[in-house]
Amino acid sequence: MKKIFIFLGPPGSGKGTQTSRLADKLSIPHIDTGSLLRKNIEENTPLGIIAKGFIDKGNLAPVEVVAKVIEDRILKPDCANGFILDGFPRSLEQAYELDKIIEHTSFDLKKDALAVYFDIDNDVLIQRLINRRSCPKCGTIYNLLSNPPKIMDYCDICDSKLTLRKDDNEETARARFVTYEKETAPLYDYYKQLGILKELDADRPISDIWESLKEIVFEE
Ligand code: AP5
Ligand code: MG
Repeated sequence: MKKIFIFLGPPGSGKGTQTSRLADKLSIPHIDTGSLLRKNIEENTPLGIIAKGFIDKGNLAPVEVVAKVIEDRILKPDCANGFILDGFPRSLEQAYELDKIIEHTSFDLKKDALAVYFDIDNDVLIQRLINRRSCPKCGTIYNLLSNPPKIMDYCDICDSKLTLRKDDNEETARARFVTYEKETAPLYDYYKQLGILKELDADRPISDIWESLKEIVFEE
């Protein structure tokens, strides 16, 4: 089975929802750059201070900042058996950085990595984003329309009060789609040419997508 899982897809396509489950199932780290950056912003770290302006505008944080965070994370011992990348790479420049980082590990990109592309029309995604609520403590993701918590505004798992991400307003969400098309969409061809890309129809119920994802992951 593959050891490195790279998830591609537009904002709101369900990457976080599915990768959290996959990380539990495979017992490997789930490396979600968006959450790592948001944590740094919350803690007012030097990295968070740089990243904030970019995230609030729906732009990508600078490549050297993000690549360093990812490199430090991937070189930790708990990634030795594999890891899941959710939100990195997000541009060709970042993909080249990842290639270099992997060269410093015991993994081989072509042999050990699988890129999964979430195929979905952008039109339905704005509604998903503005109705998303997340648990600040355990990270569980909900949706007021498609996947609501049992008690409104409170996490089913740990009972914390749910929050709305600052970039989940309509204006910033639209800017994120523009950034996605310009910077991230070219990665589809990059990983296809490397022969490691699989795609799944992400405009289906969460449980159906999970079944397809397991098939893709375990057939490899
Ligand atoms: P990030 O946090 O990665 O945001 P994103 O890519 O815009 O993706 P999202 O987290 O919004 O969506 P998702 O695909 O995870 O969907 P989810 O499962 O939550 O990045 C945020 C920002 O950080 C970026 O804009 C950038 O500024 C910065 N950043 C991050 N990485 C960077 C990098 N590498 N370089 C530079 N900057 C970087 O689902 C969405 C909603 O839909 C939820 O409410 C969920 O419940 C619901 N849902 C999920 N699946 C379904 C379904 N099948 N049907 C119906 N509803 C569903
Ligand atoms: Mg996410």
